[in-house]
Amino acid sequence: MVAKIIDGKAISEKMRAGLAKEVSNLVRHMPKPGLAVIVVGDDPASHVYVRSKAKQTIEVGMESFEYQLPASASEHQLLDLVATLNNDERVDGILVQLPLPHHINAEKVLRAIAPAKDVDGFHPLNVGLVATGSGGMVPCTPLGSMILIKSVRDNIAGLNAVIVGRSNIVGKPMAQLLLQESCTVTIAHSRTADLPAVVGAADILVAAVGRPEMVRGTWVKPGSVVIDVGINRVAAPDGKSKLVGDVAFGECLDRAAAITPVPGGVGPMTISCLLQNTLRAATARRA
Ligand code: GUN
Repeated sequence: MVAKIIDGKAISEKMRAGLAKEVSNLVRHMPKPGLAVIVVGDDPASHVYVRSKAKQTIEVGMESFEYQLPASASEHQLLDLVATLNNDERVDGILVQLPLPHHINAEKVLRAIAPAKDVDGFHPLNVGLVATGSGGMVPCTPLGSMILIKSVRDNIAGLNAVIVGRSNIVGKPMAQLLLQESCTVTIAHSRTADLPAVVGAADILVAAVGRPEMVRGTWVKPGSVVIDVGINRVAAPDGKSKLVGDVAFGECLDRAAAITPVPGGVGPMTISCLLQNTLRAATARRA
């Protein structure tokens, strides 16, 4: 079997084209939806990501507000900015780029974002609403991963889903979404005993551990769907660097039924889902 390669880039582009159409209809009777992004410090990866967000926000016809604070900014300063944006009528979505410098309590900052503007879905109210299946803002990477799974499998009820990684950003919310689809869900992590055997039972595998090519092809169940959330920069043989996922992609091609590449899989979906959440926040808040 040769795995189908799930083209996240193409699916995310199609999503943004649909969003652009919706935004153009919406702005006939209300102001442009607005997304505010705050980045603190000078982590190069965060800046690349934030620039890409701003560009795509504008491309779908929304307003982009960018705030760059120095690494020395205080928690108080950041909380003040969040409070200002909570009360800014032009702003429908607020995203505070993670990681934050160590002297800032990230949890406190995420709790300060108005839940209705929490387009990352990280506020405890949204976490609770998603966990109870009562709506709420769904975190972008799990949402994008679910769209990719659905692009190759209509009905996933009853399938074994294994998530490797238990982060609040990906692993835990991904488990909630898969449970809502009636999968039998396992969350594996660094302390899991016999990880290859756990992974081997997965009809749907979501790898989100941040360890380059940790999941080997021989672990993967034949015929499974493999979603690789990892984005790891590693040294390439030519002396340069390259991006690889958490899954040894090449080894899975003759085992999995479908697999996401890195780059070009889950990554591009995250921003499209962020824009979708922003549009949703705008329509809900201004209805
Ligand atoms: N850093 C890495 N991924 C994310 C994300 O999805 N949201 C935020 N706010 N920061 C991130």
